[in-house]
Amino acid sequence: MVITIDGPAGSGKSTASRKLAVSLGVAYLDTGATYRGVAYHALELGADLEDEEALAELARNIDLQLVPADDGVRVLISGQDVSTAIRTRQITSLTRYTAGSALVRSVLVELQRKIGRELGSFVTEGRDQGSVVFPDADVKFYLDASPEIRARRRTDELQAAGTNADYDQILQSIIDRDRRDIARKIGPLVKPDQAVVIDTSDMDINQVTEAMARVVGERT
Ligand code: DC
Repeated sequence: MVITIDGPAGSGKSTASRKLAVSLGVAYLDTGATYRGVAYHALELGADLEDEEALAELARNIDLQLVPADDGVRVLISGQDVSTAIRTRQITSLTRYTAGSALVRSVLVELQRKIGRELGSFVTEGRDQGSVVFPDADVKFYLDASPEIRARRRTDELQAAGTNADYDQILQSIIDRDRRDIARKIGPLVKPDQAVVIDTSDMDINQVTEAMARVVGERT
């Protein structure tokens, strides 16, 4: 069984995808981690992030593993656990180089398909999972929420973790990231054909997961 979940940052995708995978007893594939992992690795190696060919070469050779864990997934690069390191604000911002490069995307799409083949049954989340990477998926979802709600969620999350967070700055960065994700020519953020669209603005994570589980139950 292959289930794809696409949508913008802050739509509740990550938590809902993980929970759905657990409730269905299948694996979880976090494709954002591949874009983050390559950006992190490039920074570590001092690669020129504007050199697409160099980035693609790095993506071809990266030893990146996604290992299932209780809290979702551990991300290993050459055996080193970078799960936390790839989620800093700096790396989030630098993913524009990896996610924005058609060359890098073509390498990472193949890597994601390879991981998918190894997993067999899985829930995968990203921006292009139903449209490009797994177009034959059994069930496709597109999760959405207003930019203001997404910025509020992110601000609350950071503040709960004891990190300084400015709502206006976060809202602006969400709007900028949406614009880049939607505008790129290869693998843009789109609602895939046949996707079930869920607006999570007024839902909590459990409601989102239950709504998706109901659809999967009806369709499979
Ligand atoms: O979902 P995330 O925030 O971990 O994603 C990190 C970056 O990678 C973000 O800029 C969007 C991009 N991305 C993408 O372009 N395609 C995907 N399938 C997954 C993520």
